[in-house]
Formats: sequence, C-alpha cells, structure tokens
Amino acid sequence: MADQAFVTLATTDNYAKGAMVLCQSLRNHNTTRKIVALIGPYVSETSRAVLRKLYDEVRLVDVLDSGDATHLAMMKRPDLGVTFTKLHCWTLTEYSKCVFMDADTLVLSNIDELFEREELSAAPDPGWPDCFNSGVFVFRPSNETYEKLITACSENGSFDGGDQGVLNSFFSDWATADISKHLPFIYNLSSIAIYTYLPAFKKYGHDAKVVHFLGKIKPWDYSFDTTSKTVKGQSQDASAMHPNFLLQWWELFSSFVLPQMKAEYGDQPFHSGCTESNIHEDVAQVDTSHHSPPPQMSSQERKQRWEQGQADYMGVDSFDNIEKRLDSFLE
Ligand SMILES: *[C@@H]1O[C@H](CO)[C@@H](O)[C@H](O)[C@H]1NC(C)=O
Ligand SMILES: *[C@@H]1O[C@H](CO)[C@@H](O)[C@H](O)[C@H]1NC(C)=O
Ligand SMILES: *[C@@H]1O[C@H](CO)[C@@H](O)[C@H](O)[C@H]1NC(C)=O
Ligand SMILES: *[C@@H]1O[C@H](CO)[C@@H](O)[C@H](O)[C@H]1NC(C)=O
Repeated sequence: MADQAFVTLATTDNYAKGAMVLCQSLRNHNTTRKIVALIGPYVSETSRAVLRKLYDEVRLVDVLDSGDATHLAMMKRPDLGVTFTKLHCWTLTEYSKCVFMDADTLVLSNIDELFEREELSAAPDPGWPDCFNSGVFVFRPSNETYEKLITACSENGSFDGGDQGVLNSFFSDWATADISKHLPFIYNLSSIAIYTYLPAFKKYGHDAKVVHFLGKIKPWDYSFDTTSKTVKGQSQDASAMHPNFLLQWWELFSSFVLPQMKAEYGDQPFHSGCTESNIHEDVAQVDTSHHSPPPQMSSQERKQRWEQGQADYMGVDSFDNIEKRLDSFLE
C-alpha cells in the first residue's frame, strides 16, 4: 500500500488551504495510503512549508519548466495551464495507483476502498451524467499515458476549457464500457444535490463519503468565529448552502491547519515568499469578539500549544495580539 497515494493539486494559497484541510480529513479517517500534493509555482513559501508538514510528499510542478513535449503543448495552449498541471499527476510513477481529489473536497469517512477500482473510475457529473466529474478519480500513473494526454490536449484542446473536458474525451468509453468504473454519487455529494433532489438527500445523504464544495464561493471565502463556532458568509444565501459540511471544514481548519500556519510564522520574521496580504487574510479569518488580558506564557510554551491545536483565541492569540505581532514583523 506504500505504493498507492491520494493526490491533490494546489495552484494558489487559497487552494493550498483546501489541500491542507483535505489532507487532515484523510488522516483523521486513518487512511493507510500516502498523501501527495502537487503545487504550482505561485504557492507561497509559508503555504509550502505547512503542506510539507501535513503531506507525505509535496511536489512542485512548473509546466513552463517541464519536458519538451509538455512545454510545447503549453506554448500552443497557454489557456490550459492549470489543466496541464493537473495532468502531471500521471507522472507520479513511483506509485502504482492513485486517487486524485480536488482541493475543494472534504472526506467524511475512510475511502481507501477506492483503490480497489481501476483507471479511470470517477463519479458521474450531475450536469451531464454521461460525463464523469474529474474532481475525484482513480488512475494509474504512467509516463506513456501522460504523453498521450498531453498530445491529445494540445491537438484537440478541451471542450469545456478544463481538465474535465480533456479527460472525458480521452477516457471516452467511461459512460458505456464498465460500470465498475462508475463511482457512486456518495463520493461526490455536492451542496447542489441537497437542493435539486432533497428527497434523495434525506434518504442517502448520511452515507456521504466525500463532499465537494462546488461553485464560486469556497469554504475559505467565509469566516469563522471560533468563539461561537459559527461560519459567517458574505451573503445569507451562500452560508445557508451546506452549513454542516462548511462547519466541519472550518473546524478542521481552525484546530489542525491554523496552528501549523502560526507555528510557521513562529518567532521569525517573514521569508520573502510569504506576502503580507496572505497573513492578514489568514489571521482575519479568525474573528474573536471577546478579549481578556493576555496570560503570561513563554513563546516556547505558546508555540507548543499552537501545535497541539490549543490556540488561545480569546487571550494571548486574540486577533488584536496577532495583529500587533504582525505589525511588528511588517515594520
Ligand atoms: C483512527 O485510529 C485511531 C487510533 O487507532 C482511533 O482511535 C480512531 O477512532 C480512528 N478513527 C476513525 C475515524 O476510525
Ligand atoms: C459532483 O457533483 C457536482 C454537481 O452536483 C458536479 O458539478 C461536480 O463536478 C461533481 N464532482 C465529482 C467529484 O464528481
Ligand atoms: C517517468 O518519467 C520520469 C521523468 O522523465 C522518470 O523520472 C521516471 O523514472 C519515469 N518512470 C518510469 C516508470 O519510466
Ligand atoms: C483528436 O480528436 C480526433 C477526433 O475526435 C481523434 O480522432 C484524435 O485521436 C484526437 N487526437 C488525439 C491526439 O487524441
């Protein structure tokens, strides 16, 4: 099983947050497989450092810097940059089988049984059920398949402008050839399904194994009040979309990921790759409205508590204090 892995992709710091939560959700459900992140060149140093703590392997994919065929394909179709980056997962040839998961998915139970499936297994896309959705799929890394995918991509492009179009054209017999390659919909429960077919959601929703946060507004676009443990949306509608799953996402983020991020800023000033706006954004997500006098604690002790997920948001780690600290770095 050491040669099987879950794989995800983060091309921005925001998607990196998704990837961190996804990884933690896999770990919390005791996966026995490796967990690998592909990252693009725009992911900051700080995010990379946190990803490296959580993941078994973090691999930088710079398509502009890659082999001839890919580079040429990229020059021909610059619009498909992220797609080429995702297709890179086929080059992970030290693994015999992998499950790809988008960084905006969250695992709700152990899903190691997916490794019993063959390439290319995926769930139907509710928008066009004869197409599979490329947010979760089972594949076998292979340099040969990779080359073929790149060629197909540069010759024929993508009918939807993304990886899902490319992959559906390439694995075009998915809809008809082998039903065992159709993953049940519970591997891709989306908030949309809750509304479009509520009776089915009531009957089957509790079996959900993976939730996929589709749409423009992602979990990391909300904010979380650690005191009241509530997620605050930018608009009323959006926050009503998938309240429980969103809350689960934020609970993982605040108890496992944020402490790692804090530990990463630690006692040192920022490294160059880490931008101020990022940090302000990350910290601003934690909104504490109550303040108490900061208890005295050594920074070593504090760091330890962060790492154990015991941030004191009401006291020493309150927003005001974090902000002061950041200001002192930024000067
Ligand atoms: C994962 O393993 C730990 C330790 O063996 C166990 O306590 C925990 O209940 C397991 N979690 C799940 C979700 O099965
Ligand atoms: C899951 O379903 C949604 C719509 O409900 C679809 O847009 C999405 O791409 C699907 N994802 C996966 C992983 O199948
Ligand atoms: C696939 O290609 C990569 C990069 O060229 C190489 O390192 C790797 O060994 C190849 N894998 C196999 C199984 O040939
Ligand atoms: C491009 O599309 C055509 C028509 O569907 C197909 O016959 C051809 O094999 C595709 N090219 C590649 C490289 O997959």
